[in-house]
Amino acid sequence: MAIRQIREMGDPILNKVSKVVTEITPRTKFLIDDMIETMYEADGVGLAAPQVGVLKRIVVIDTTGEDLLVLINPEIIESDGEQEGYEGCLSVPGKSGLVRRPNHVKVRALNEQMEPIEVEGEELLARALCHEIEHLDGHLYVEKVEGDLVDNSELMKSEEGEE
Ligand code: NI
Repeated sequence: MAIRQIREMGDPILNKVSKVVTEITPRTKFLIDDMIETMYEADGVGLAAPQVGVLKRIVVIDTTGEDLLVLINPEIIESDGEQEGYEGCLSVPGKSGLVRRPNHVKVRALNEQMEPIEVEGEELLARALCHEIEHLDGHLYVEKVEGDLVDNSELMKSEEGEE
């Protein structure tokens, strides 16, 4: 496995539409393993293949540190409720922004064996599923931010102030 370079906002690959995965080749397996390692190394809760420069519909998510999800060709098939919260992205380092998302989503995808699976998530997992799937269509959360992007250091200060 290897850590791959994370592409940052401004890199045109982040605005491209990723291709549907039709088979798992050894190359795809290496990609998935590298995405997992890269996400954990960067302390992220999710990573989409275009963020490491590969236009394939693959995302990895782990919102707790012990619930790794590998989703191939994921699609949101149900969403309801609403949540608003600060969101960040490994491709927009050091920043966060307030984004409204559904509080619950259901996703259909394939697993690493190309078997159909369904994943349901609430709160942070619902947010991560929406965020990562949007990367596959060339969208970044900054398009949806209400107000301005803030520096994470300021966000931490204001959270401390609330206590
Ligand atoms: Ni992201």
